[in-house]
Amino acid sequence: MLPNPSLYMHFPWCVKKCPYCDFNSHPSNGDIPQEAYASALINDLEKQSNDLFGYQRFATVFIGGGTPSLFDPCQLDRVFEAIDLTADAEVTMEANPGTTERFSFSAYRSIGINRLSIGAQSFDDEHLQVLGRIHEATHTAAAFQTAREAGFENINVDLMWGLPQQTTAQAMQDLSTAIALSPEHISWYQLTLEPRTEFAKRPPIIPVEPILAEIESEGLALLESSGFERYEISGFAKPGFTCAHNLNYWRFGDYVGIGAGAHGKCTSSDPMPVQVARTNKAKQPRLYLQRATDIDINPVIEDALPLEFMMNALRLVDGVSQELFAQRTGIDWHRIDEVWSNLAERGLVYADRCAATTMGMRYLDTVLGEFVN
Ligand SMILES: C[S@@+](CC[C@H](N)C(=O)[O-])C[C@H]1O[C@@H](n2cnc3c(N)ncnc32)[C@H](O)[C@@H]1O
Ligand code: SF4
Repeated sequence: MLPNPSLYMHFPWCVKKCPYCDFNSHPSNGDIPQEAYASALINDLEKQSNDLFGYQRFATVFIGGGTPSLFDPCQLDRVFEAIDLTADAEVTMEANPGTTERFSFSAYRSIGINRLSIGAQSFDDEHLQVLGRIHEATHTAAAFQTAREAGFENINVDLMWGLPQQTTAQAMQDLSTAIALSPEHISWYQLTLEPRTEFAKRPPIIPVEPILAEIESEGLALLESSGFERYEISGFAKPGFTCAHNLNYWRFGDYVGIGAGAHGKCTSSDPMPVQVARTNKAKQPRLYLQRATDIDINPVIEDALPLEFMMNALRLVDGVSQELFAQRTGIDWHRIDEVWSNLAERGLVYADRCAATTMGMRYLDTVLGEFVN
């Protein structure tokens, strides 16, 4: 029996586009059609529930972007009226520290949002400027305190490392400042230069490999000694505060994706065999508003499933059981036995469970390369 799917809701507008960002985000250039977007999300959810997923109570919801902290809480409330949640559902919203004067955190809290993910990125004002951020370090600290005062007891801070010309000392200073705020969760992402971004066109000078390795090992040690357990490549949590929504992705669970450019994943096993499909929505906000109920459904061919499964499961420090592989893909573990034993002999994965070793996590692309076809 598969667990309930999660719900991902995308909000595609930002104040301005950051030069490193490859997410489906668009400068708002004035008014955001708040009411029309909320109505589109409601229709989108209803259509996907009817056509693909059936009636669902969601145990996790993630409102991502873009900049969802630009979403009028009154309109977001309308969307929430259409969503059925389990009693202890984890409901996360991303918040940009440069937008917090628009709407109050208390308003989001009273809708039922109980986890905030604050996009700090760095606490060094020069780096924030290079990253094209619309806030300074003091705004992030203030946003964090305001969120606490509004009653948020579960807060994540997003930080990036390997920033242009960043030294190890600067990266550690960023981490120490984040840790001093005492969040429940820290996401610590290595900056990647994504194709089709400003940074790809005009690449900044990023630290060389030995510095990156030094930042990574010192950072991991600092997080661990500060009580944050690494449970995923970039995810660090205080005990009891792992992100349930992301865990569902990494365990290859299903999710409904609503909003412009949102992706979803849907598994059916009745009748057998297991069939996995991906869903996509129109990316451009204007197009999405016109076609909110159109769903692009792409079945995943069986040969692609081992790679897709491993891309998620091997991000987890503890990995998953070999049984879960069979359950979620419909493929017997024996079919990948030879590839797995070979990787285990090279010290990249554990022989007896579906998990990468520390070295395997560092060279995850090499591990995943073995599952291409
Ligand atoms: C979907 S983004 C949106 C968060 C929010 N809009 C903000 O920027 O404050 C989620 C996180 O991904 C990370 N991220 C985005 N682009 C990245 C890149 N090119 N390399 C590494 N991390 C990135 C950032 O830490 C960001 O906070
Ligand atoms: S604010 Fe966030 S989503 Fe928007 S462009 Fe910047 S990183 Fe991307």
